[in-house]
This record gives sequence, structure tokens and C-alpha cells, in this order.
Amino acid sequence: MPDSPSSRHRISVRTAVVWAALQAELDSRAADGPLAVLDAGGGTGGFAVPLAQLGHQVTVVDPSPDSLAALGRRAAEAGVCDWVHARQGDLATLSEVVAPGSCDLVLCHSVLEVVEDPAAALGQAAAAMRAGGCISVLAANRTAVVFSRALVGHFTEARHALDDPAGRWGAGDGAVRRFALADLTALLDEVGLVVEAVHGVRTFTELVAGHLLDSDPAALAHLAELELAVADRPAFREVATQLHVLARRP
Ligand SMILES: C[S@@+](CC[C@H](N)C(=O)[O-])C[C@H]1O[C@@H](n2cnc3c(N)ncnc32)[C@H](O)[C@@H]1O
Repeated sequence: MPDSPSSRHRISVRTAVVWAALQAELDSRAADGPLAVLDAGGGTGGFAVPLAQLGHQVTVVDPSPDSLAALGRRAAEAGVCDWVHARQGDLATLSEVVAPGSCDLVLCHSVLEVVEDPAAALGQAAAAMRAGGCISVLAANRTAVVFSRALVGHFTEARHALDDPAGRWGAGDGAVRRFALADLTALLDEVGLVVEAVHGVRTFTELVAGHLLDSDPAALAHLAELELAVADRPAFREVATQLHVLARRP
């Protein structure tokens, strides 16, 4: 089924808060020239390619050959092959493919949910950062699954997810981990990174019916504006679909 206009554009609404936070970090480093960026578990390059288009050198480490091939195609289409460096690898053994202390900015987006050991993965990511370097961590929020299940009428699943001590959701091997904000900040603290900002991401975007966005051309822009406005308000962050944390290596 072809994408509706709303489902295509919702992609940029979904990432608006993260891009705003990244843009603020890039602006603050503008005098440093092109940055060395690592996108750990960067997949097909949804963040890596736009960062390369801004002139940064971006290394994508991912275990999936298919994702890296798609990344190569995306980088070629955007004309940034010289700025995007694909490395097949795993966050658990990152130091085998990325030199310690070599990165100005590390992205770790939607990866901690699926790695075997999130603490070890973040330890590796922290080791790859230069002093003063920044990490952008995006992870699924534990609370959100309770809303998403309840809103489609799966009240028993929502009730179960509410008190699930493992914080994992889904069936069997496909189950993904979810985090409370305190879990994420504690993990970053344990590996010596200092949290500077936390945001809620996709607070409303997953809850809005598509027809409301398709029927009004201005609605997506207004929704993005609303997402940005609530992102750092704790009451809304608590229920956002994802949590975003910016932290720095002292
Ligand atoms: C949900 S995708 C996120 C992709 C990208 N970071 C983004 O935000 O669009 C998760 C990615 O993590 C990668 N991945 C899975 N296990 C990994 C691991 N142990 N180390 C590094 N990346 C991993 C997958 O191959 C996949 O590309």
C-alpha cells in the first residue's frame, strides 16, 4: 500500500526534536569545522546521510550488511560517499572498528533496545568519544507501550506492560527493551558521561489519526511545533514514545 502524505511526512515530525537537539550541538561546535561523527547502529543512514550533507565525516557501524548496502546507496544518491564511512561491526566490540577517543559526536539511536548488554554498549560508545565530545542517545520509553496498547483496546497487555520488571516488549527474540529516564541517565552516569539535556520524542505523533494530518496541509508543521514545545516538559516527557538524552564526556 503506498504511503499516505501523512505517513511520509510524519517521519520528519518523528525526528524533529532529535534534529533540533543535534542542530544546537552542531551550532555550538561550528567553529571546530567538520566533526568526526560516529553513528553506532546507524542502519541505513537516516541520520548519517543528512549529517554528511552538512559536511561532517560520519562513520556508521552496524552489524547488518543489508543496512550498510542501503546506506551506501543512500549516500551515493545524496552525493556524499566521501563523507560516509560504513563499517560492519557491533557496539559490544566497537573499539575493533573505531579508534578510542576519536569521535566528536556519537549517535546511539534506537539501538540500546536491541543490544545484548546496554551498559557495555554505552561503555564502548563512551570510549570512542574525545574529551568534550557529545553523545545523542534515543531509546524507547517504557511508559509509552502502556498508552499504545491501551489506545488500540489491548487493555490486558497494557496492564501487563505497566508492571513488567524486565522492561521488554514483544514476543520471543523480537522483544525489545524499553527504558525509564532514570535507567538511561544511570547507565550514562556509570560510564562517566554527564547528562546535559533530556527530551521526550514523538509525544503526540503516534497518537494522532492520519486523516487529521492529511486533511490540513498546515497540520504537520503545527504538530512538529507542538512536539518541540513539549519535549523538555517533564509531564509530557514521561509519556513520550521515545526518550532522548544528550550527554558529554568531561
Ligand atoms: C531500529 S534500527 C535504528 C537505526 C538507526 N540508528 C536509526 O535511528 O534510524 C537498529 C539498528 O541497530 C543495529 N544493531 C543491532 N544490534 C546491534 C549491535 N549489537 N551493535 C550495533 N548495532 C546493532 C541494527 O542492525 C539496526 O540497523
